[in-house]
Amino acid sequence: MVIFGVTGDLARKKVMPAIYDLANRGLLPPGFSLVGFARRDWEEQDFAQIVEEAVRTHARTEFREEVWTQLSEGFRFVPGDFDDDVAFETLGQTLRELDVQRGTGGNHAFYLAIPPGFFGSVVSQLKEHGLVDGGDAWRRVVVEKPFGHDLESARELNAVLADVFPSGSVFRIDHYLGKETVQNFLAFRFANTLFEPLWNSHYVDHIQITMAEDIGIGGRAGYYDGIGAARDVIQNHLLQLMALVAMEEPHSFDAESLRQEKRKFLSAVTSKEPFSQTTARGQYVAGWAGGDKVAGYLEEDGIAADSRTETYAAITLEVDNRRWAGVPFYLRAGKRLGRRVTEVAVVFRQAPHVPFSELATEDLTQNALVMRVQPDEGMTVRFGSKVPGTAMEIRDVSMDFAYGGTFTESSPEAYERLILDVLLGDPPLFPRHEEVELSWQILDPILEAWAADGEPEPYDSGTWGPLSADAMLARDGRKWRRP
Ligand code: BG6
Repeated sequence: MVIFGVTGDLARKKVMPAIYDLANRGLLPPGFSLVGFARRDWEEQDFAQIVEEAVRTHARTEFREEVWTQLSEGFRFVPGDFDDDVAFETLGQTLRELDVQRGTGGNHAFYLAIPPGFFGSVVSQLKEHGLVDGGDAWRRVVVEKPFGHDLESARELNAVLADVFPSGSVFRIDHYLGKETVQNFLAFRFANTLFEPLWNSHYVDHIQITMAEDIGIGGRAGYYDGIGAARDVIQNHLLQLMALVAMEEPHSFDAESLRQEKRKFLSAVTSKEPFSQTTARGQYVAGWAGGDKVAGYLEEDGIAADSRTETYAAITLEVDNRRWAGVPFYLRAGKRLGRRVTEVAVVFRQAPHVPFSELATEDLTQNALVMRVQPDEGMTVRFGSKVPGTAMEIRDVSMDFAYGGTFTESSPEAYERLILDVLLGDPPLFPRHEEVELSWQILDPILEAWAADGEPEPYDSGTWGPLSADAMLARDGRKWRRP
């Protein structure tokens, strides 16, 4: 595997530790080799040291000397710019040597952990220097979001990749799809009889998808400003969650069937207008997080004092098909909120007739099924139950399934699963370019309306976002869940 952008946050915090964790679990072949490519004046040992630091700080599994030694023997470093012909020649030479020394069989994955503006020059360099065509060996490219900033730029990006790599060799990472709890959506829905019969507009009142983070933007001003919450996580993670929760059953779990259902589903999703009422956006101001006083977005390092970037976004979507007609999907995501939680809540309709007095049921709300992606991975079903006693009084209770209490194995990190799938060439968990483009198609009208009009509403750090988001649901007679 060749990593472009080894000095970045993503490579250090996620990719390199995941590679070590895979090696530690015995899931990498002994000849696996890692080549770093960056604009740094480093020797091989400098690169090894960077990887070691990243692994010691961020790996999930314990550091074992013998695993490290075996893995690090396959480390190489190539210094150079992305448009530097000599560096790409050296890269080719390094890869050929590794094939001989470590028996990599000529199979190469190129991981672009770099801003998309550089994709074009890197892939065309790979092509020009004969690194794309491996004959019988495989050549794959791994790309990370953002896949563009709107439909048009996403199409351009896809064209750049398609020009060089056949579509089956392009692996787009959406790390939410690598999460255990997200893959469980499919097991939960399609391996059971209990829930699927209720999964439609006859029984479901609405669905809420929440991705709340307590962190601010940290040191990511350069990436985040001008992007905002909707582009950062709704376009990809939240729309993918929505697709897995609400698409039709694929006839098998192979890449083609799964992607086909997601594509079909996403092409039926539309945003609901008028956006002034069906969407909300906010920007955090100073407040409290975990007992500490924290700065507002506009005071963060590297953010312009007049930035209009939203750090909170909520949108209403609809699905134009028989199963979901009339059922709103409310998606929200934000930074510096009350706590970190990602969940999908399926809220059911009220029972059509309740043969108890109003007094008996005043504490009873709608049944709900909550799939907790993180933390406290698991599920909760909320339903009404009689309170013990002589009177008929009915109240909400819940039934819980927690991964932690049920399984002894801990879940692998999303990146472990995804990197392994890249090496195995197993693509069901990687969105295709059609899905990426459909997601932009859904979001673009909202983003255009936001750019043309108004500003994000301020909200205090440590709260649950702007008041306009509550008003958005209140208009529909509904409320956000307090996770
Ligand atoms: C990334 C976003 O895709 O996901 C970040 O760019 C966000 O802004 C992150 O913080 C959250 O990932 P996780 O796995 O911690 O939920």
